[in-house]
Amino acid sequence: MTTPTSQDSADRSRIDALINHHRQQPGALLPLLHAVQDALGFIPQEAVPRIAAALNLSRAEVHGVITYYHHFRSKPAGRHVVQICRAEACQACGADALLAQAEQLLGCKAHETRADGAVTLEPVYCLGLCASSPAMQLNERPYARVTPQQLQRLAQSLGVSA
Ligand code: FES
Repeated sequence: MTTPTSQDSADRSRIDALINHHRQQPGALLPLLHAVQDALGFIPQEAVPRIAAALNLSRAEVHGVITYYHHFRSKPAGRHVVQICRAEACQACGADALLAQAEQLLGCKAHETRADGAVTLEPVYCLGLCASSPAMQLNERPYARVTPQQLQRLAQSLGVSA
């Protein structure tokens, strides 16, 4: 069992403030989950029962929404977040090959974070750049018509080796 830190306590306070801000809003769950992730970078497991109680939902309902949407993270991300679009238009333009290349260049599998915490690699489902597929994001900056060479340059800019 781990000892709570002052960071845990600060995170708890932020979660409580966000719950209080959103709890009366109709359909509060999604906006609240977005707000928690925007504030902390992920949705801590301990937030689930608090959110469920505040919104009169079951833990399973809250957990189900978090796991249904790929956008939500249950663990902290790495210092850099690489997202490769795997939705239909990007799939048709080589997204699978890009993702495989990213796994190799970054030294971590899709949905995972490197052991050194440098990079998280996430498949995502449409970045709104379908007409310029394949698309990806690096630290929320979008890139369109991504080539293997461009992906290699972006990966090198992160200073990690596989
Ligand atoms: S399908 Fe990839 S950006 Fe829309």
